Amino acid sequence: MKPILKWAAIVAASLAGLLVLAMVRTEAPEFAGTPPLDLGVRHEKGRHLAQVVCGQCHGTNLSGDPKAPVHPTPDLLIVAGYDPGAFRTLMRTGKAPGGREVEVMLKIARGSLSNFTDDEIDAIYDYLGARCKAFAANQNAPSGADPPPPPAQPPRPQRATSAAVGGVKPDSGERQRVIDGAIANLKQYYIDPDVAQKMADVLLAHEKSGDDEAVTDGEAFAALLTRQLRDASHDLHLEVVYSRDPLPDRPPGPTPEGFARYRAALEQQNCTLEKVEVLPHNIGYLKLNSFPDPSVCESRAKAAMASLNDAAAIVFDLRDNRGGYPSMVMLIAAYLFDYPEYMYNPRENTTARSWTRSPVPGNRLADKPVYVLTSTRTFSAAEHFSYDLKMLKRATLVGETTGGATDVGTFHRMDDHFGIGIRETKAINPYSEPDWAVTGVEPDVKVKASGALETAVKLAERKLREQG
Ligand code: HEC
Repeated sequence: MKPILKWAAIVAASLAGLLVLAMVRTEAPEFAGTPPLDLGVRHEKGRHLAQVVCGQCHGTNLSGDPKAPVHPTPDLLIVAGYDPGAFRTLMRTGKAPGGREVEVMLKIARGSLSNFTDDEIDAIYDYLGARCKAFAANQNAPSGADPPPPPAQPPRPQRATSAAVGGVKPDSGERQRVIDGAIANLKQYYIDPDVAQKMADVLLAHEKSGDDEAVTDGEAFAALLTRQLRDASHDLHLEVVYSRDPLPDRPPGPTPEGFARYRAALEQQNCTLEKVEVLPHNIGYLKLNSFPDPSVCESRAKAAMASLNDAAAIVFDLRDNRGGYPSMVMLIAAYLFDYPEYMYNPRENTTARSWTRSPVPGNRLADKPVYVLTSTRTFSAAEHFSYDLKMLKRATLVGETTGGATDVGTFHRMDDHFGIGIRETKAINPYSEPDWAVTGVEPDVKVKASGALETAVKLAERKLREQG
């Protein structure tokens, strides 16, 4: 996946994006410019997904980039002409109504959108449809009415060089600036100065031997530098990122309004606890679609765990879990041990918070068999949960290899279009590196995600029979 799309996907991963932003302290390049029209909590998910994915080419406020030199894009008001079926077809196949092939959209369909569920595509459609209506209402509104705020035009990149997809070929001056910037940042922030020096030497050696000259666009250059850094350091958490839109000087940071929206969305969605139930044979089942902020969801999460306290085994369904707060990972994991257990987390220095607060008074789950369902869409904090329980042999993972998302670094801007993510934490990984960055967590029992629940239930039933 392209780096920006991957970061975008990770951000999109969380319920409202805000959790990841708050936690990772990462600047999200896709937030540059004016955001799309805000249509309230109901459309927040669709708005967010549209912003991070479609906004890359259709402009941050989705009003299109008709003057783009390579691939001009229309305002997404064009979606007014699509019914839900036609929209899905475009998103899945790149075919517009009448069978017209939209070349670039075909790439999107095969690329970033292939990770999205039908529900997520529908959420984007619903948001874009509501946006069309809001604009229409605004135009037809009699004066004196209170129309929705018109979207401000984002400042268009002034540089004639901005291209639609991978950007233009960086010239030698830009390459030099990016390499110097990477070296300066690594020397200042990288945890191991010797490794930082080694990476600096490697970058300069590649530059000197002309290896960087062949790249055809900004994105390819970022990918090449990322590879060079990772080869030299074996640190998969390092990443050079290219952004088509100019990067803001300073990260926008989470806002109080953003947090209020996040809280409202969580409350509306029962803290993303999609299902909490007891299946036949007394198997507890908890489908959790994020690890939400405990400051909002602590009591609901505790109530859910308490309601499963008498289960003979427990299945955590993380197949649609796109991440969240490490503190919620720790809160839930605490129920699975009767002594404090160390949970490695690459995002946080090893501190007292790295041990679960076990035992939990009155809890009876500490010795019950645990199954964790995973998919390729299991991300970030959900991988933290899965990885540690697997390494501790406390759970059996059933499903697919997870997404490999650990963008744990702090993002540093190096020039208008390039930044670098560098991990600054000193977390101790008792299982030695690499962790799940890029590669994902392998399940113990590999089955298609769609069949993971059935398989896990069978395994649990067999185990319970054996236990008598
Ligand atoms: C990598 C750039 C890129 C991304 C990302 C992207 N688009 Fe596009 N899109 C284009 C381009 C370029 C066109 C114009 C294509 C043409 O007319 O040949 C287009 C055209 C469209 C059209 C009009 C198709 C038609 O002719 O009827 C729609 C609708 C659309 N995009 C929706 C979306 C949505 C929704 C998203 C986000 C889920 C999105 N696009 C993401 C580049 C992109």
